[in-house]
Amino acid sequence: MIIVLLGAPGAGKGTQAKRLVEKRGFSHVSTGDLLRDAVSRGTKLGRQADEFMKGGRLVPDAVVLGLVEELFEAGTSADIILDGFPRTVPQAEGLDALLSKRGMAVDCVVFIDITVDEAIRRLSSRVSCSSCGAVYNLLWKPPATDGVCDACGGELTRRSDDEPEAIERRFTEYHAATKPLTDYYRSRGILRAVDTTRTSEEIQSEIDEILDGGCEARENE
Ligand code: AP5
Ligand code: MG
Repeated sequence: MIIVLLGAPGAGKGTQAKRLVEKRGFSHVSTGDLLRDAVSRGTKLGRQADEFMKGGRLVPDAVVLGLVEELFEAGTSADIILDGFPRTVPQAEGLDALLSKRGMAVDCVVFIDITVDEAIRRLSSRVSCSSCGAVYNLLWKPPATDGVCDACGGELTRRSDDEPEAIERRFTEYHAATKPLTDYYRSRGILRAVDTTRTSEEIQSEIDEILDGGCEARENE
């Protein structure tokens, strides 16, 4: 099954993706994580992406599609969660082409949305482990020891794009380029929206119901 997690910055895509990986054994593909890894390794692609990411702007479609294509060429599992990709209509079209060459297609798009105020609250209190990637929230899911990862003892850091100005820019990009994807997938009948005013656990159950039901439309849709 190919699942797309579509949603605003800070909506909880990464949080939900990690749980689905643990619970259902999906492979997790986060273009944000892949790009941050390329930036930290100082690769050519990372150097290209860095300026866009720091300012909260989208990395050009060709760069992102190239990255995802490389991943598919290296071999992928049949069950994948795409987190933060696609993010523009050209990326969605590129993904369709990549998948159809392999006899696959996007099966379900889970849409999680939040307001900019809530995103600023969540993202300005998010820290993550520079070693294992575990994500914490200083307001409601703090680590046991300040600055230290509970899971592996690694150092906890903030993302450079989690400053209020960059968050607002990420939202502007999201509304202009990514939100239109809801129409792209709604018209195919595979978009399922979840209620994001709920806790992570409740959202997880709602996503589980959607996936257990084979992404069929529910009564309220
Ligand atoms: P990316 O890394 O994808 O960032 P994003 O979309 O801005 O989203 P985040 O990762 O910040 O948030 P999230 O939804 O994963 O939330 P999380 O689970 O961490 O992209 C970063 C940048 O890379 C982009 O700006 C762009 O430059 C570039 N890029 C990436 N992909 C690209 C693409 N396809 N095309 C072009 N450019 C691309 O949760 C956030 C916080 O909230 C955490 O602290 C968490 O603990 C907490 N939380 C989660 N759920 C809940 C809940 N239900 N209630 C309360 N708190 C919660
Ligand atoms: Mg994320």
